[in-house]
Amino acid sequence: MPITPIRGTDRGSDPAAAVPLVSGALPLVGHLPAFMSDTVSVLERGYAEHGQLFRLELAGTSMVVVLDPEHRKELLLQPETALSISAAYPFLRSMFGTGFYFMAEEEEYRRQRELFMPVFHGGPLRTYLGVMERRTRELIAQLGDEGELELVRTCGELNLRVIVDCFFGEEFGPLFADDLELFETFSGNVSFLLPPGLHPVRTWRSRVARRHLQRLTLRCLAQRRAHPLPAPDFLQSLTESRYRDGTPVPDSASVHQALGLVWAAGETTAGQLAWALADLLRRPEHHPALLAEQHRHLSPDAPLTVENLHRLTRMDHVLYESERLNPLAVLIARKTVRDTVVGGHRLRRGTFVLTSPYLVHRMPDEFPDPHAFRPERYVEDPKAAQRLFGFGSGIHRCLGRRFSRLEIKTCLTLLLRHYEMELIDVPRPVARLAPRAVTAPCRIRFRRRPEAASGGRPGQPRTGS
Ligand code: HEM
Repeated sequence: MPITPIRGTDRGSDPAAAVPLVSGALPLVGHLPAFMSDTVSVLERGYAEHGQLFRLELAGTSMVVVLDPEHRKELLLQPETALSISAAYPFLRSMFGTGFYFMAEEEEYRRQRELFMPVFHGGPLRTYLGVMERRTRELIAQLGDEGELELVRTCGELNLRVIVDCFFGEEFGPLFADDLELFETFSGNVSFLLPPGLHPVRTWRSRVARRHLQRLTLRCLAQRRAHPLPAPDFLQSLTESRYRDGTPVPDSASVHQALGLVWAAGETTAGQLAWALADLLRRPEHHPALLAEQHRHLSPDAPLTVENLHRLTRMDHVLYESERLNPLAVLIARKTVRDTVVGGHRLRRGTFVLTSPYLVHRMPDEFPDPHAFRPERYVEDPKAAQRLFGFGSGIHRCLGRRFSRLEIKTCLTLLLRHYEMELIDVPRPVARLAPRAVTAPCRIRFRRRPEAASGGRPGQPRTGS
């Protein structure tokens, strides 16, 4: 059923009240404390009690959760004028201001989207693969032959180095390398869904870090403008970008776009990479087949290529299962900016409408035997991968999904080829309202494979050398 705006809603009673309410709401604050401290448990309770449509009450604000495929489509295909993404994520406005991406007017959003698009296709992805491989090999060299590493920090640092090199260029990446924690302070101190005014100290820290990053980025833009490359990269396309009427975009606006991209790629990819490695190590029974696949399709001495990595389909299926069971994005949110019907229910302006990749990925209608880690499901049902939802869907589907999947696959392929690894700690998700990352510390013990030390092929020790 399409979403239709409602005119003349009776404001006396909240129409969302007709959507079944999850148990456990406290007087006045409703589900807010539980939602803030253990989001996934509250969502799971809603699904167990009411199935694919339920409601939470957060201190006077209704939050309707829709899981049914048709209702999800309604939610994710509606324009900003009905179900707004910018109103749903107030922290983004506090981080980047109102002129950034989908917080801007429709035309400016489209201009910025067009600017981002080429970054994620064919040619640039090949260049990025070179960066991903080089940075992972540097990590391996730094780790040495054996020892312990902390999963969350290692993935976070590796990913930040990859993305600053990719988006700021290899000559400017090192400029940021000493300030990687600034990115963490910038993005880690804002809160999903809650207005920034509710946590002033964290918001202030984030803004101080932002100012520092802005200064660095402005320097990069000025230097790139003075010394342009023959084949423009993302940074250069920012220096050359213009509004539709031909006016050059000021550097102050371009800085937001550069930092916005790093933000979108940062915590998400680092978190998904950490889950992928943790899930791989929890299932050592898959390692021999993954190594044999590498042996068939990769040359141990030649650099990785997009084409060769593409042939590692078993690795894809393991990574899909990790993405399915442990998606970083637990929730995707919109807010009604006019009275609207969703899932057959009239919702008043100001209602949050959410869907959840985490729950959808665990619904048996979508993925039979949903709690089992079964990479073979993608062989049995070639369309199963298309039902994955961790990168969103519809109008705002993630632009960086190919980039992230390539990075995760590159990193895991090389680490698995070089090391025998085992988890020392059990990986646990963070419980609070945030991207569902692995909780630090989560330690891994690693030892170089004898065949990797002698330069042999993965999974096949070299004899006589
Ligand atoms: C594993 C890593 C990632 C995850 C889990 C992820 C997840 C998502 C999700 C769920 C959305 C949709 C949000 C919504 O509809 O409310 C989204 C949108 C977006 N993502 Fe990602 N993302 C990842 C990596 C990246 C990377 C690497 C980039 C860029 C380099 C990126 C750039 C974007 C952009 C620009 C959008 C907004 C698209 C639009 O509205 O036009 N993401 N992402």
